[in-house]
Amino acid sequence: MGGAQGARGVRVRAAPSLALVKYWGKRDARRNLPATSSLALTVTGLYTEARLQAAAADHLTVDGAAVPAARHAAFFAAARAELQVTTRYRVTARNNFPGAAGLASSASLFAALAVGCAALAGAAPARGLLSALARVGSASAARAVWGGFSALEAGAESAWRAFPADHWPELRLLVAVTSRRRKPLASRAAMLQVAQTSPYYGAWVASSEATFQAALAALRDRDLARLGPQMRTSYLRMFGTMFAADPPINYLRPQSLRVLEVLESLRAAGVDAWETMDAGPQVKIACLAADVERIRAALLAEAGLAPADLIETAPGAGPCILD
Ligand code: PMV
Repeated sequence: MGGAQGARGVRVRAAPSLALVKYWGKRDARRNLPATSSLALTVTGLYTEARLQAAAADHLTVDGAAVPAARHAAFFAAARAELQVTTRYRVTARNNFPGAAGLASSASLFAALAVGCAALAGAAPARGLLSALARVGSASAARAVWGGFSALEAGAESAWRAFPADHWPELRLLVAVTSRRRKPLASRAAMLQVAQTSPYYGAWVASSEATFQAALAALRDRDLARLGPQMRTSYLRMFGTMFAADPPINYLRPQSLRVLEVLESLRAAGVDAWETMDAGPQVKIACLAADVERIRAALLAEAGLAPADLIETAPGAGPCILD
């Protein structure tokens, strides 16, 4: 059990996978297969660091708080089955960014856990298998086991690498932290509520494949003026399904809207600054490195953000084992 690293454990760092085109809804809830195809960027600067050790029972804490077993049981069971071990896991994880606030902390967490469980077993599975394992914990984590740009297609078990991190070195994702409060409703519960009650859910699923394909082509061509509108279509239609749910779900906060307004005027002035959002109030802005300072200055002056609220990220590497 645990091989050579059993006693000391392993330490893994993984970054979130921030979606340019969204996964929202499940084709198969039991197997956690996505209903829509997503395209994402694994970023630099934000990360989850997890220490895994063999223990008497599975136990996971994130930023000092115990995660309920219901949230991790399927993942650890899948890890044991996939790696053919009987190990129980004690995991202590920390985020260097606000967790559960729409910054894909579940993606980086379960990507770190998939890589960590394999390392603890002394195994080196193919990345596709790690991706499928991470998906059991969180579908966005299937993308985060890849560095650079990755895609998880509707109904797929694992994500694939669309482009390496150096495909578009000038691309930046500027994260505007508009609130540090934990979100009131986890994405998992929100997706279920939307699928069960939103009359727009079917239209969202039906229309999302075209958005994914158009975004993939724009990303291949490194064409932000084409990619940006697809990013907005994706998150705004996703939010549309939420507004139409019963009860409705709204992750937008006044501060998020202030940021969107500033971006609108930057675009009117010819700056490619295209936002996306997830299940939370933070705004992620795709732009080119050369425009970061102008966008930052506008957000500080006009959206009421403080310098610490703006985090500059770029296409980054997949998970790494620290020791
Ligand atoms: O994988 P989850 O359960 O954290 O869901 C992620 C859903 C979104 O962040 C809203 C979109 C995405 O594709 O990452």
